[in-house]
Amino acid sequence: MPDSSISKFFEKDQKERLTIVKNFAGLSNEDLEILEKATGGISFDKADKMVENAIGTFSLPLGIATNFKINDKDYLIPMVIEEPSVIAAASKGAKIARIKGGFKVKADESFSIGQIQLLNVDSEKAISKINESSDEILEIANAQSNTLSKIGKGAKEVTCREIQTDSGPMLIVELLIDVGDAMGANITNSMCEAVSPLIEKITGGKVLLKILSNYSTRRIVKASAIFEKEAVGGEEVVDNIILAYQFAANDVYRAVTHNKGIMNGSIAVANATGQDSRAIEAAANAYAARSGQYRSLTEWSKDSEGNLLGKLELPLSVGIVGGIINVHPLAKICTKILGVESAKELAGVITATGLAQNYSAIRALATEGIQKGHMRLHARNLAAAAGANPQQIDEIVMRMTQENNISLNRAKELLDQI
Ligand code: MEV
Repeated sequence: MPDSSISKFFEKDQKERLTIVKNFAGLSNEDLEILEKATGGISFDKADKMVENAIGTFSLPLGIATNFKINDKDYLIPMVIEEPSVIAAASKGAKIARIKGGFKVKADESFSIGQIQLLNVDSEKAISKINESSDEILEIANAQSNTLSKIGKGAKEVTCREIQTDSGPMLIVELLIDVGDAMGANITNSMCEAVSPLIEKITGGKVLLKILSNYSTRRIVKASAIFEKEAVGGEEVVDNIILAYQFAANDVYRAVTHNKGIMNGSIAVANATGQDSRAIEAAANAYAARSGQYRSLTEWSKDSEGNLLGKLELPLSVGIVGGIINVHPLAKICTKILGVESAKELAGVITATGLAQNYSAIRALATEGIQKGHMRLHARNLAAAAGANPQQIDEIVMRMTQENNISLNRAKELLDQI
Protein backbone atom coordinates (compact mmCIF):
# COMPACT_ATOMS: atom_id res chain seq x y z
CA MET A 1 0.00 0.00 0.00
CA PRO A 2 1.53 3.37 -0.99
CA ASP A 3 2.20 5.79 1.84
CA SER A 4 1.17 9.44 1.42
CA SER A 5 3.23 10.72 4.37
CA ILE A 6 6.15 11.91 2.30
CA SER A 7 8.80 13.68 4.25
CA LYS A 8 9.82 17.17 3.12
CA PHE A 9 7.82 16.98 -0.11
CA PHE A 10 7.81 20.79 -0.16
CA GLU A 11 11.60 20.92 -0.34
CA LYS A 12 11.85 18.80 -3.46
CA ASP A 13 12.01 20.23 -6.95
CA GLN A 14 9.27 19.75 -9.54
CA LYS A 15 10.92 16.70 -11.12
CA GLU A 16 11.37 14.94 -7.78
CA ARG A 17 7.78 15.71 -6.77
CA LEU A 18 6.49 14.45 -10.09
CA THR A 19 8.47 11.23 -9.77
CA ILE A 20 7.00 10.63 -6.32
CA VAL A 21 3.48 11.28 -7.60
CA LYS A 22 4.09 9.11 -10.66
CA ASN A 23 5.23 6.17 -8.55
CA PHE A 24 2.47 6.65 -6.00
CA ALA A 25 -0.34 6.83 -8.55
CA GLY A 26 1.07 4.75 -11.40
CA LEU A 27 1.00 7.66 -13.86
CA SER A 28 2.21 7.11 -17.42
CA ASN A 29 5.07 9.02 -19.04
CA GLU A 30 2.47 10.80 -21.12
CA ASP A 31 0.64 11.93 -17.95
CA LEU A 32 3.92 13.17 -16.57
CA GLU A 33 4.68 15.13 -19.69
CA ILE A 34 1.31 16.90 -19.49
CA LEU A 35 1.94 17.77 -15.83
CA GLU A 36 5.49 18.90 -16.48
CA LYS A 37 4.58 21.20 -19.33
CA ALA A 38 2.16 22.95 -16.97
CA THR A 39 0.49 24.71 -19.85
CA GLY A 40 -2.91 24.78 -18.23
CA GLY A 41 -3.93 21.51 -19.73
CA ILE A 42 -6.13 22.55 -22.61
CA SER A 43 -5.51 23.94 -26.06
CA PHE A 44 -7.25 27.01 -27.34
CA ASP A 45 -9.31 24.80 -29.65
CA LYS A 46 -10.65 22.88 -26.67
CA ALA A 47 -11.31 26.07 -24.73
CA ASP A 48 -13.16 27.45 -27.71
CA LYS A 49 -15.45 24.45 -27.71
CA MET A 50 -16.02 24.60 -23.94
CA VAL A 51 -17.17 28.22 -23.70
CA GLU A 52 -18.32 31.03 -25.94
CA ASN A 53 -16.14 33.89 -27.15
CA ALA A 54 -12.93 32.24 -25.90
CA ILE A 55 -9.75 34.27 -26.27
CA GLY A 56 -7.32 32.04 -24.39
CA THR A 57 -6.87 29.78 -21.38
CA PHE A 58 -6.10 30.64 -17.76
CA SER A 59 -3.96 28.45 -15.53
CA LEU A 60 -3.64 28.19 -11.76
CA PRO A 61 -1.13 26.39 -9.50
CA LEU A 62 -1.66 22.66 -9.05
CA GLY A 63 -0.12 21.26 -5.86
CA ILE A 64 -0.23 18.06 -3.88
CA ALA A 65 -1.37 17.69 -0.29
CA THR A 66 0.39 14.85 1.48
CA ASN A 67 -0.32 12.70 4.56
CA PHE A 68 -3.97 11.92 3.83
CA LYS A 69 -5.36 8.64 5.10
CA ILE A 70 -9.08 8.28 4.47
CA ASN A 71 -10.99 5.12 5.38
CA ASP A 72 -7.59 3.42 5.79
CA LYS A 73 -6.44 4.30 2.27
CA ASP A 74 -3.58 6.71 1.56
CA TYR A 75 -4.11 9.57 -0.87
CA LEU A 76 -1.97 12.23 -2.45
CA ILE A 77 -4.44 15.00 -3.01
CA PRO A 78 -4.19 17.31 -6.03
CA MET A 79 -5.34 20.84 -5.24
CA VAL A 80 -5.79 23.71 -7.66
CA ILE A 81 -5.72 27.02 -5.81
CA GLU A 82 -4.12 30.45 -6.07
CA GLU A 83 -3.81 31.03 -2.31
CA PRO A 84 -0.54 30.29 -0.49
CA SER A 85 -0.59 28.21 2.73
CA VAL A 86 -3.69 26.19 1.82
CA ILE A 87 -1.91 23.07 0.54
CA ALA A 88 0.56 23.17 3.43
CA ALA A 89 -2.32 23.56 5.88
CA ALA A 90 -4.25 20.62 4.43
CA SER A 91 -1.12 18.44 4.60
CA LYS A 92 -0.48 19.51 8.19
CA GLY A 93 -4.05 18.78 9.23
CA ALA A 94 -3.88 15.36 7.57
CA LYS A 95 -0.59 14.63 9.32
CA ILE A 96 -2.14 15.20 12.74
CA ALA A 97 -5.33 13.28 11.86
CA ARG A 98 -3.16 10.37 10.72
CA ILE A 99 -1.86 9.75 14.24
CA LYS A 100 -5.30 8.48 15.27
CA GLY A 101 -5.96 6.61 12.03
CA GLY A 102 -6.88 9.41 9.63
CA PHE A 103 -10.29 10.43 8.35
CA LYS A 104 -13.42 8.33 8.38
CA VAL A 105 -15.87 9.22 5.62
CA LYS A 106 -19.27 8.00 4.54
CA ALA A 107 -21.20 9.16 1.49
CA ASP A 108 -24.84 8.66 0.54
CA GLU A 109 -25.65 7.11 -2.81
CA SER A 110 -25.51 9.73 -5.56
CA PHE A 111 -29.13 10.86 -5.73
CA SER A 112 -29.73 13.94 -7.80
CA ILE A 113 -32.94 15.95 -7.42
CA GLY A 114 -34.72 17.27 -10.52
CA GLN A 115 -37.45 19.89 -10.12
CA ILE A 116 -40.48 20.56 -12.27
CA GLN A 117 -42.52 23.67 -11.49
CA LEU A 118 -46.18 22.93 -12.18
CA LEU A 119 -48.64 25.84 -12.35
CA ASN A 120 -52.41 26.26 -12.59
CA VAL A 121 -53.38 23.01 -10.88
CA ASP A 122 -55.39 21.94 -7.89
CA SER A 123 -52.48 20.46 -5.97
CA GLU A 124 -54.39 17.65 -4.30
CA LYS A 125 -55.86 16.36 -7.59
CA ALA A 126 -52.58 16.81 -9.46
CA ILE A 127 -50.66 14.89 -6.79
CA SER A 128 -53.08 12.01 -7.07
CA LYS A 129 -52.77 11.94 -10.91
CA ILE A 130 -48.98 12.08 -10.68
CA ASN A 131 -48.90 9.27 -8.13
CA GLU A 132 -51.14 7.13 -10.36
CA SER A 133 -48.78 7.69 -13.31
CA SER A 134 -45.51 7.51 -11.42
CA ASP A 135 -44.40 4.29 -13.18
CA GLU A 136 -44.97 5.84 -16.59
CA ILE A 137 -43.18 9.05 -15.53
CA LEU A 138 -40.18 7.06 -14.31
CA GLU A 139 -40.17 5.00 -17.50
CA ILE A 140 -40.02 8.13 -19.68
CA ALA A 141 -37.31 9.58 -17.45
CA ASN A 142 -35.24 6.41 -17.57
CA ALA A 143 -35.54 6.18 -21.35
CA GLN A 144 -33.18 9.21 -21.38
CA SER A 145 -30.25 7.14 -20.19
CA ASN A 146 -29.51 3.61 -21.29
CA THR A 147 -26.28 3.70 -19.32
CA LEU A 148 -27.94 4.38 -15.97
CA SER A 149 -30.83 1.98 -16.60
CA LYS A 150 -28.43 -0.82 -17.54
CA ILE A 151 -26.63 -0.59 -14.20
CA GLY A 152 -29.82 -0.43 -12.17
CA LYS A 153 -29.58 3.31 -11.54
CA GLY A 154 -31.62 6.21 -12.91
CA ALA A 155 -34.89 7.83 -11.81
CA LYS A 156 -36.31 6.04 -8.78
CA GLU A 157 -39.02 8.20 -7.28
CA VAL A 158 -41.44 11.01 -8.08
CA THR A 159 -42.57 13.22 -5.23
CA CYS A 160 -44.67 16.36 -5.03
CA ARG A 161 -44.91 19.26 -2.64
CA GLU A 162 -46.90 22.44 -2.77
CA ILE A 163 -45.25 25.78 -2.12
CA GLN A 164 -46.96 29.08 -1.42
CA THR A 165 -45.74 32.14 -3.30
CA ASP A 166 -46.84 35.74 -3.87
CA SER A 167 -48.12 34.50 -7.26
CA GLY A 168 -50.22 31.78 -5.65
CA PRO A 169 -49.61 28.09 -4.88
CA MET A 170 -47.39 25.98 -7.12
CA LEU A 171 -46.79 22.28 -7.21
CA ILE A 172 -43.15 21.25 -7.27
CA VAL A 173 -42.72 17.79 -8.75
CA GLU A 174 -39.37 16.24 -7.93
CA LEU A 175 -37.54 13.35 -9.57
CA LEU A 176 -35.07 11.49 -7.43
CA ILE A 177 -32.38 10.10 -9.70
CA ASP A 178 -29.48 7.82 -8.86
CA VAL A 179 -26.83 9.28 -11.17
CA GLY A 180 -24.10 6.82 -10.16
CA ASP A 181 -20.61 8.15 -10.81
CA ALA A 182 -21.68 11.26 -12.70
CA MET A 183 -22.32 14.70 -11.26
CA GLY A 184 -25.59 14.25 -13.08
CA ALA A 185 -26.69 17.77 -14.04
CA ASN A 186 -27.26 17.00 -17.72
CA ILE A 187 -29.11 13.77 -17.23
CA THR A 188 -31.26 15.27 -14.47
CA ASN A 189 -32.22 18.21 -16.68
CA SER A 190 -32.95 15.91 -19.65
CA MET A 191 -35.18 13.69 -17.52
CA CYS A 192 -37.09 16.68 -16.14
CA GLU A 193 -37.67 18.02 -19.64
CA ALA A 194 -38.69 14.61 -20.98
CA VAL A 195 -41.39 13.95 -18.36
CA SER A 196 -42.91 17.43 -18.40
CA PRO A 197 -45.33 16.94 -21.35
CA LEU A 198 -46.84 13.88 -19.63
CA ILE A 199 -47.14 15.78 -16.34
CA GLU A 200 -48.93 18.62 -18.14
CA LYS A 201 -51.22 16.14 -19.93
CA ILE A 202 -52.32 14.20 -16.85
CA THR A 203 -52.74 17.23 -14.58
CA GLY A 204 -53.99 19.80 -17.08
CA GLY A 205 -51.42 22.21 -15.62
CA LYS A 206 -48.58 24.19 -17.13
CA VAL A 207 -44.92 23.32 -16.51
CA LEU A 208 -42.56 26.28 -16.30
CA LEU A 209 -39.08 25.40 -14.96
CA LYS A 210 -37.48 21.96 -15.42
CA ILE A 211 -34.07 21.87 -13.79
CA LEU A 212 -31.95 20.02 -11.26
CA SER A 213 -31.60 21.34 -7.73
CA ASN A 214 -28.03 22.02 -6.71
CA TYR A 215 -29.10 21.65 -3.09
CA SER A 216 -28.04 18.03 -3.12
CA THR A 217 -29.35 16.92 0.25
CA ARG A 218 -29.64 13.34 -0.99
CA ARG A 219 -25.87 13.26 -1.57
CA ILE A 220 -24.65 13.99 1.93
CA VAL A 221 -21.07 13.14 2.81
CA LYS A 222 -19.81 12.90 6.37
CA ALA A 223 -16.17 13.07 7.42
CA SER A 224 -14.71 12.86 10.89
CA ALA A 225 -11.28 12.63 12.45
CA ILE A 226 -9.67 12.59 15.85
CA PHE A 227 -6.78 14.99 16.32
CA GLU A 228 -4.59 13.73 19.11
CA LYS A 229 -4.46 16.14 22.05
CA GLU A 230 -0.67 16.39 22.40
CA ALA A 231 -0.10 16.74 18.66
CA VAL A 232 -2.69 19.52 18.57
CA GLY A 233 -0.66 21.38 21.22
CA GLY A 234 -2.17 20.22 24.50
CA GLU A 235 -5.41 20.70 26.39
CA GLU A 236 -5.45 24.48 26.24
CA VAL A 237 -5.10 24.52 22.45
CA VAL A 238 -7.85 21.90 22.12
CA ASP A 239 -10.10 24.04 24.34
CA ASN A 240 -9.29 27.17 22.36
CA ILE A 241 -10.09 25.44 19.07
CA ILE A 242 -13.48 24.48 20.49
CA LEU A 243 -14.03 28.08 21.57
CA ALA A 244 -13.09 29.20 18.05
CA TYR A 245 -15.65 26.74 16.69
CA GLN A 246 -18.33 28.04 19.07
CA PHE A 247 -17.75 31.51 17.66
CA ALA A 248 -18.42 30.16 14.13
CA ALA A 249 -21.39 28.11 15.30
CA ASN A 250 -23.11 31.17 16.72
CA ASP A 251 -22.10 34.18 14.65
CA VAL A 252 -22.83 34.47 10.96
CA TYR A 253 -19.94 36.86 10.24
CA ARG A 254 -17.45 34.38 11.68
CA ALA A 255 -19.27 31.36 10.22
CA VAL A 256 -18.88 32.62 6.66
CA THR A 257 -15.11 33.01 7.09
CA HIS A 258 -14.85 29.67 8.89
CA ASN A 259 -16.74 27.96 6.06
CA LYS A 260 -14.64 29.79 3.49
CA GLY A 261 -11.65 28.06 5.06
CA ILE A 262 -13.39 24.68 4.58
CA MET A 263 -14.05 25.60 0.94
CA ASN A 264 -10.33 26.43 0.52
CA GLY A 265 -9.69 22.72 0.88
CA SER A 266 -12.79 21.25 -0.71
CA ILE A 267 -12.94 23.54 -3.74
CA ALA A 268 -9.23 23.15 -4.47
CA VAL A 269 -9.76 19.39 -4.86
CA ALA A 270 -12.98 19.99 -6.78
CA ASN A 271 -11.12 22.29 -9.17
CA ALA A 272 -8.31 19.80 -9.69
CA THR A 273 -10.79 17.07 -10.58
CA GLY A 274 -12.92 19.23 -12.87
CA GLN A 275 -16.02 19.58 -10.68
CA ASP A 276 -18.65 22.31 -10.76
CA SER A 277 -17.35 24.30 -7.81
CA ARG A 278 -20.21 26.82 -7.93
CA ALA A 279 -22.70 24.02 -7.35
CA ILE A 280 -20.68 22.74 -4.40
CA GLU A 281 -20.39 26.15 -2.76
CA ALA A 282 -24.03 27.09 -3.32
CA ALA A 283 -25.16 23.81 -1.74
CA ALA A 284 -22.69 24.07 1.14
CA ASN A 285 -23.85 27.57 2.02
CA ALA A 286 -27.52 26.57 1.95
CA TYR A 287 -26.68 23.56 4.13
CA ALA A 288 -24.87 25.80 6.60
CA ALA A 289 -28.16 27.67 7.04
CA ARG A 290 -30.39 24.60 7.32
CA SER A 291 -31.27 25.28 10.96
CA GLY A 292 -32.55 28.73 10.05
CA GLN A 293 -29.30 30.36 11.09
CA TYR A 294 -26.12 30.25 8.99
CA ARG A 295 -23.58 28.28 11.03
CA SER A 296 -20.24 26.52 10.90
CA LEU A 297 -20.32 23.47 8.61
CA THR A 298 -17.90 21.66 10.89
CA GLU A 299 -18.41 20.63 14.50
CA TRP A 300 -15.57 20.44 16.99
CA SER A 301 -15.67 18.75 20.38
CA LYS A 302 -13.52 16.59 22.69
CA ASP A 303 -13.59 12.82 22.90
CA SER A 304 -13.49 10.97 26.22
CA GLU A 305 -9.66 11.19 26.28
CA GLY A 306 -9.58 14.92 25.63
CA ASN A 307 -8.55 14.59 21.99
CA LEU A 308 -10.06 16.97 19.47
CA LEU A 309 -12.89 15.47 17.45
CA GLY A 310 -13.81 17.13 14.15
CA LYS A 311 -16.81 16.45 11.94
CA LEU A 312 -17.84 17.88 8.60
CA GLU A 313 -21.03 17.19 6.70
CA LEU A 314 -21.54 18.47 3.14
CA PRO A 315 -24.11 18.02 0.40
CA LEU A 316 -21.84 17.18 -2.52
CA SER A 317 -22.63 16.46 -6.13
CA VAL A 318 -19.45 15.42 -7.86
CA GLY A 319 -18.62 13.00 -10.63
CA ILE A 320 -15.77 11.00 -12.04
CA VAL A 321 -17.40 10.39 -15.42
CA GLY A 322 -18.76 12.92 -17.90
CA GLY A 323 -18.37 16.67 -17.60
CA ILE A 324 -14.98 18.24 -18.17
CA ILE A 325 -13.18 15.09 -17.04
CA ASN A 326 -13.61 13.89 -20.63
CA VAL A 327 -12.17 17.09 -22.03
CA HIS A 328 -9.53 18.33 -19.64
CA PRO A 329 -6.41 16.16 -19.48
CA LEU A 330 -5.34 17.58 -16.11
CA ALA A 331 -8.72 16.84 -14.52
CA LYS A 332 -8.31 13.28 -15.75
CA ILE A 333 -4.76 13.00 -14.42
CA CYS A 334 -5.70 14.50 -11.06
CA THR A 335 -8.49 11.95 -10.70
CA LYS A 336 -5.92 9.27 -11.51
CA ILE A 337 -3.54 10.67 -8.87
CA LEU A 338 -6.34 10.37 -6.32
CA GLY A 339 -7.05 6.84 -7.45
CA VAL A 340 -10.75 7.23 -6.69
CA GLU A 341 -13.01 4.58 -8.14
CA SER A 342 -16.39 6.18 -7.57
CA ALA A 343 -18.04 9.57 -7.23
CA LYS A 344 -18.77 8.67 -3.61
CA GLU A 345 -15.10 8.06 -2.93
CA LEU A 346 -14.21 11.42 -4.49
CA ALA A 347 -16.90 13.11 -2.38
CA GLY A 348 -15.29 11.58 0.73
CA VAL A 349 -11.87 12.91 -0.25
CA ILE A 350 -13.26 16.40 -0.90
CA THR A 351 -14.97 16.42 2.50
CA ALA A 352 -11.92 15.11 4.37
CA THR A 353 -9.77 17.80 2.75
CA GLY A 354 -12.25 20.46 3.87
CA LEU A 355 -12.07 19.13 7.42
CA ALA A 356 -8.24 19.03 7.42
CA GLN A 357 -8.19 22.58 6.11
CA ASN A 358 -10.59 23.84 8.76
CA TYR A 359 -8.56 22.15 11.50
CA SER A 360 -5.37 23.88 10.42
CA ALA A 361 -7.04 27.26 9.96
CA ILE A 362 -8.74 27.35 13.35
CA ARG A 363 -5.73 25.85 15.09
CA ALA A 364 -3.56 28.61 13.67
CA LEU A 365 -6.14 31.25 14.54
CA ALA A 366 -6.53 29.92 18.09
CA THR A 367 -2.75 29.91 18.65
CA GLU A 368 -0.22 32.08 16.85
CA GLY A 369 -2.61 33.59 14.26
CA ILE A 370 -2.37 32.87 10.57
CA GLN A 371 -0.04 35.62 9.46
CA LYS A 372 3.11 34.11 10.98
CA GLY A 373 2.79 30.81 9.14
CA HIS A 374 1.64 32.59 6.05
CA MET A 375 4.66 34.89 6.04
CA ARG A 376 7.01 31.95 6.75
CA LEU A 377 5.67 30.22 3.67
CA HIS A 378 5.81 33.40 1.67
CA ALA A 379 9.45 33.79 2.75
CA ARG A 380 10.20 30.20 1.65
CA ASN A 381 8.65 30.88 -1.74
CA LEU A 382 10.66 34.08 -2.13
CA ALA A 383 13.90 32.33 -1.15
CA ALA A 384 13.17 29.59 -3.69
CA ALA A 385 12.29 32.20 -6.33
CA ALA A 386 15.63 33.90 -5.62
CA GLY A 387 17.32 30.63 -6.61
CA ALA A 388 18.24 29.24 -3.16
CA ASN A 389 18.73 25.51 -2.60
CA PRO A 390 16.91 23.75 0.30
CA GLN A 391 19.67 24.44 2.86
CA GLN A 392 20.00 28.04 1.76
CA ILE A 393 16.22 28.45 1.91
CA ASP A 394 16.16 27.60 5.64
CA GLU A 395 18.89 30.13 6.37
CA ILE A 396 17.33 32.88 4.24
CA VAL A 397 13.88 32.34 5.75
CA MET A 398 15.34 32.54 9.25
CA ARG A 399 17.23 35.76 8.49
CA MET A 400 14.33 37.47 6.70
CA THR A 401 11.95 36.53 9.52
CA GLN A 402 14.36 37.82 12.19
CA GLU A 403 14.85 41.06 10.29
CA ASN A 404 11.13 41.33 9.60
CA ASN A 405 12.05 42.11 6.01
CA ILE A 406 10.45 39.53 3.76
CA SER A 407 10.95 40.44 0.12
CA LEU A 408 12.40 39.03 -3.06
CA ASN A 409 15.14 41.67 -3.09
CA ARG A 410 16.23 40.79 0.45
CA ALA A 411 16.16 37.07 -0.41
CA LYS A 412 18.46 37.75 -3.38
CA GLU A 413 20.83 39.87 -1.26
CA LEU A 414 21.01 37.19 1.43
CA LEU A 415 21.61 34.48 -1.18
CA ASP A 416 24.56 36.50 -2.52
CA GLN A 417 25.96 36.71 1.00
CA ILE A 418 25.71 32.97 1.75
C1 MEV B 1 -8.27 32.17 4.61
O1 MEV B 1 -8.35 31.91 3.24
C2 MEV B 1 -9.17 31.24 5.40
C3 MEV B 1 -9.31 31.55 6.87
O2 MEV B 1 -9.74 32.91 7.04
C4 MEV B 1 -10.34 30.61 7.43
C5 MEV B 1 -10.77 30.90 8.84
O3 MEV B 1 -10.74 32.08 9.26
O4 MEV B 1 -11.18 29.93 9.52
C6 MEV B 1 -8.00 31.42 7.61
